[in-house]
Amino acid sequence: MTRRLVIAVDGPAAAGKGTLARRLAQALDLPYLDTGLLYRATGRRMIDAGLDPATAAAEEFAASVGLEDLSRTDLRVPEVDRAASLVASQAAVRRTLVDVQRRFAGAHGAVLDGRDIGTVIFPDATVKLFITASPYTRAVRRWEQMAPNPDVPDRAEQIARVEREIAARDAADSSRAVAPLRAAEDAVHIGTDHLSADEVLAEALRIVARMTR
Ligand code: DC
Repeated sequence: MTRRLVIAVDGPAAAGKGTLARRLAQALDLPYLDTGLLYRATGRRMIDAGLDPATAAAEEFAASVGLEDLSRTDLRVPEVDRAASLVASQAAVRRTLVDVQRRFAGAHGAVLDGRDIGTVIFPDATVKLFITASPYTRAVRRWEQMAPNPDVPDRAEQIARVEREIAARDAADSSRAVAPLRAAEDAVHIGTDHLSADEVLAEALRIVARMTR
């Protein structure tokens, strides 16, 4: 019988968690859940309803979010970045979203990426990875995925703006009272500044192999 494999991939925004987690899931033939999308879908629904994502109404919206909402194509826009961070700082919202994340791993396991997978959602995950990169590297990566901003012609200034936004979101995610972003004590850290996506995957697969021997 194969063992249930739960892999937690945590870390700050744009450090390479999503890319790694998706590829790791593919390589290991496991389902993959980007848990940030649950917070994004909650924030999105509140914006659509004309409500402030900082208010306690977020709990109700979180309760009605299902996996089918996660394929929406309007979840990665700046207003939803902010809304997701605001709903994610509410304890009631986080509590509401615990079950859907735990159930996702089912009987066979999964790869999940987020901020609190190794600390709160799956404290006994088989493998916990904590993915980091410098704020500048993360800003460049995020900037490369974005459409050019015609109002800011200078590349360095565009990157600096993205870096400031990332820093603000990191500060909010790390300083919030509930489930702040932090590495689990037993997480293995991977710094991705000087690694390609292939190298990060290879390193993660080595760690998984070592920990499941
Ligand atoms: O990873 P992301 O940028 O899509 O996450 C969106 C927001 O949700 C971000 O502010 C962090 C928060 N989040 C969280 O608090 N816990 C998670 N497990 C995943 C995301």
